[in-house]
Amino acid sequence: MMTRMKHLLSTKDLDLEVVDRLFLRTEKLKRLRGILSREEKILQGHVVAILFWEPSTRTRMSFELAAYRLGAGVLELHPKESSVIKGETIDDTVANLHSIGCNFFVVRHPTSGEVARLAATQGRDTYFINGGDGANEHPCQALLDAFTIRERRKTFDGVRVAIIGDILRSRVARSNLHLLTRLGASCVVSGPKELLPKELEVGGVEIEKDPAQAVKNADVVMVLRLQRERAGITFDMTEKEYHEKFGLTAKLLQTAKPDAMVMHPGPINRGVEIDSDVADGSQSFILRQSENGLFMRMAVFEALRGELG
Ligand code: NCD
Repeated sequence: MMTRMKHLLSTKDLDLEVVDRLFLRTEKLKRLRGILSREEKILQGHVVAILFWEPSTRTRMSFELAAYRLGAGVLELHPKESSVIKGETIDDTVANLHSIGCNFFVVRHPTSGEVARLAATQGRDTYFINGGDGANEHPCQALLDAFTIRERRKTFDGVRVAIIGDILRSRVARSNLHLLTRLGASCVVSGPKELLPKELEVGGVEIEKDPAQAVKNADVVMVLRLQRERAGITFDMTEKEYHEKFGLTAKLLQTAKPDAMVMHPGPINRGVEIDSDVADGSQSFILRQSENGLFMRMAVFEALRGELG
């Protein structure tokens, strides 16, 4: 039976059978380097609209390339250069793009829940992918991160993942915690107290004030950027102070397992949350995450089309 999902909005309620199929398909697409025959390009005749209300490099570019690889036409809207500036709502923008033939929408928006709201209100033949909504979720990032861990570790059972940084404002942390705990990994988060939630909505996650304790014996150390662009929190630590206390240095990494994977969704701020020798070192999977992201995004489009065998 074909595995199908209507939209990709969150990892919280993503069917684990679908996740498994996505892993297998991503593996296959990676072996093929994403190059498909004419018959296999299942988005031919379709148009994917990429609507990003926030800056992006990896997510936007790899969704665009994934859509091209599957034969789609791609339209990219830059809200600041569009009729949004003249007062058009996001709903009217989407409806107008739909009327000219777009039915796949990859959306990034600063408001949590905005992509799910659009998915619930737009027509039946529209498919939405959440490219990051506020501090809420970033499901494709978590899928590609989980794929990267699985590729290396083969299993999630007994895998200890430490996520260090701006947990409170990170959609990457939230989506990863939902997915990785459901897959069987054990997760711990650490960061400055202002950037740590009092409690997490995801069960079974340790909250550790001391980054050295969190990193100790970790199989994976995932580092996150300080998201200063998100308002609402008083956090006045300088970059230097942050680096001293929470930056992933070679010394801090030594407390993790000897072959621990270093991950970061990007963009990295060298010398702040991570040192260059760690980011570019032999344990770094940062560029592997980007590489895998292209194939995972192709698999996600296929799953939305119901083509994931
Ligand atoms: C992240 C994002 O935008 O949520 N980046 C990404 O998509 N790879 C993380 C960040 O901006 O720090």
